[in-house]
Amino acid sequence: MRVVSVWPIVRPLLFRLDPETAHGVAMAALRAVQAVPPLAARLRRGFLADAPALRQMLFGREVLNPVGLAAGFDKDAVAVRGLAALGFGCIEIGTVTPKPQAGNPRPRLFRHPAAESVQNAMGFNNAGLDAVRARLLRLRPSPVPLGVNIGKNKATPAESAVADYELLVRAFADLCDYLVVNISSPNTPGLRDLQNEGFLRAVLHRATGITGRPILVKIAPDLEEGDAVRLAEVAVDAGAAGVVATNTTNDYSLLPGAKDFGGLSGAVLREKSFRIFDAVARRLYGRALLVSVGGIGTGAEAYRRLQAGASLVQVYSALVYAGPGLARRINEELLQLMERDGAKTITEVIGAGRGK
Ligand SMILES: Cc1cc2nc3c(=O)[nH]c(=O)nc-3n(C[C@H](O)[C@H](O)[C@H](O)COP(=O)(O)O)c2cc1C
Repeated sequence: MRVVSVWPIVRPLLFRLDPETAHGVAMAALRAVQAVPPLAARLRRGFLADAPALRQMLFGREVLNPVGLAAGFDKDAVAVRGLAALGFGCIEIGTVTPKPQAGNPRPRLFRHPAAESVQNAMGFNNAGLDAVRARLLRLRPSPVPLGVNIGKNKATPAESAVADYELLVRAFADLCDYLVVNISSPNTPGLRDLQNEGFLRAVLHRATGITGRPILVKIAPDLEEGDAVRLAEVAVDAGAAGVVATNTTNDYSLLPGAKDFGGLSGAVLREKSFRIFDAVARRLYGRALLVSVGGIGTGAEAYRRLQAGASLVQVYSALVYAGPGLARRINEELLQLMERDGAKTITEVIGAGRGK
């Protein structure tokens, strides 16, 4: 069955729906797929680019390919098996907050098709720690390496933010392969103010005292380059295993016609996200696990991020436009580029542009 071949028919139908409704339809389809394990297994055989050359060990687990699903697509971990069937090398769920949250009022998700971009002001709508933890307990063992992205509740004041993250680390450390401390969503007022050295040191001190699991910090693309590098370095010195760069941008000048709220992602974010990632990698490649996300939709762009020092790339917005065959396509293109350059394994590509 070639699901990819029906995408040109499905996409215009989905695009006639409000974006959040379309996302709900996609999630329902993924849940239907995972409810029928032989179907999920068959889809996975079609979508997974399972070439030995793409494999690497990360977080103490084998990752079958370097293309991950970014946070925010499956906030509540309801469709992990369905998403694994789309061939992602790993999946990051969340952002999960301690208490359930409704998020911002709708409409809060917008497409910008001509620019292959997305704008969202979701505001951490999620089912909360207890519900997501129960789901992950049932999911064990996860079919793919799993990250849990965590954030504070909107109602939690900055002074108590560390306690929110501590609760979440305790709840999820044993149920995932890595954790991501999210302090870079533009849609929770004040969250980005946590991108400071004092908070990072405090939160990482607590988190690393609780678990030995890798803890990554996700940063915004809107930091000054020097500040981003300094923060990333502080995080790693304080015990973070790595950095995820970047979240969405609130630089609305990137897209004429953009709304003046929420975060932009997709193609308009590509260069900005690359610049921040590249600056961080220049300082930290070889010392930390680096994940690049923002505007990635092709093998060529994924290759550029890997060469700059990313061990993994992640996608979200491109999935909206390219559909379920995206991970396989990026991986196949990566394999072609590796063959062109004579790279035998993905680990030869990672950081190849950095000069060791
Ligand atoms: C609708 C939507 C919801 C998102 N929710 C989250 C989230 O809950 N936590 C998070 O860390 N990032 C979230 N993101 C950001 C993505 O994980 C990613 O960092 C960003 O979209 C850039 O990647 P892209 O250009 O491939 O979309 C969200 C993005 C979108 C489009």
